[in-house]
Amino acid sequence: MKRVEQEIARLIKEIDYDEVTALYSTLSGGKRLRAKLILKIAPDHKDAPLLAAIVELIHGASLLHDDVIDDAMTRRGVTSVNASSGSKVAVMLGDILYSKAFTELVAFDKDVAQTIAASVTALSKGEMMDVKMAENFNSDEALYLDMLYLKTATLIEAAAKASALLAAKDAHKHALYGRNLGLSFQIIDDILDITATEEVLGKPAMNDFIEGKCTLPYIYLYEKLNAEDKKYLVSLHTKETTKDETLWIKEKMKEYKTVEKSFELAQKLSNEAKTAMSEDSELVAILETMIKRTF
Ligand code: FPP
Ligand code: MG
Repeated sequence: MKRVEQEIARLIKEIDYDEVTALYSTLSGGKRLRAKLILKIAPDHKDAPLLAAIVELIHGASLLHDDVIDDAMTRRGVTSVNASSGSKVAVMLGDILYSKAFTELVAFDKDVAQTIAASVTALSKGEMMDVKMAENFNSDEALYLDMLYLKTATLIEAAAKASALLAAKDAHKHALYGRNLGLSFQIIDDILDITATEEVLGKPAMNDFIEGKCTLPYIYLYEKLNAEDKKYLVSLHTKETTKDETLWIKEKMKEYKTVEKSFELAQKLSNEAKTAMSEDSELVAILETMIKRTF
């Protein structure tokens, strides 16, 4: 991973603007899941650290824009750039990181470059769907999973597929692995929003529903509730909920085991990825660590 951090530092330096270097240094790197995946799949390829750096810059850019869109005050436990330096700066920093990443990406083989580039269109489409869907209470599970795939899983799928292409490994199998890893990763994230504390999350807890996001535990809860309670749940959508209202949601979720049901889907997707990649114990281990971070 040291090589990836060095590549990221080199690309940031090449942008040749002190303002950008200073701002970038205030960001927390995060889990670097996508970069780790690329290095695991193509460990011996000389361009793997660069590809990993490119994908992390794209991911970083998307989070800068997402925090503007979501009005988020914190990211990965530190003040977000939009909160510390304003939305204009956050958008422009995102643009710079994103275009620098693409400048580097075009030097790769066409199939690798196309894989990553196409996933960014999907990512942006997914973000727009997410924002549109948050305007009303959504109880459509399939639509939610489509959006989740686009918003979160595509870049992970593309990272796995592109590195498999670099290493001349089975691109289809690795893409399936990345897709399911990404989906279950996001479902776990949605669960943690409900079950974890603010300190653990690095952002306010139970915030998804306030932002309008009807994640799987909410969709499954809606399915189970009687007509009156359905109406009550919908009335809480996008509201700054009181302690009692939050407690009501949590108790109903407990009663109908909707967090457990969401976890089962994450586990099913993760098991499919494990089966596809059973011969690669390191990739299986990544899935296991990811699933375990739940409770
Ligand atoms: C986080 O979702 C957001 C994403 C994973 C994708 C955001 C994508 C874009 C803004 C479009 C692409 C833009 C560029 C510049 C490449 P979340 O809000 O559910 O998660 P969070 O809790 O981590 O904020
Ligand atoms: Mg967000």
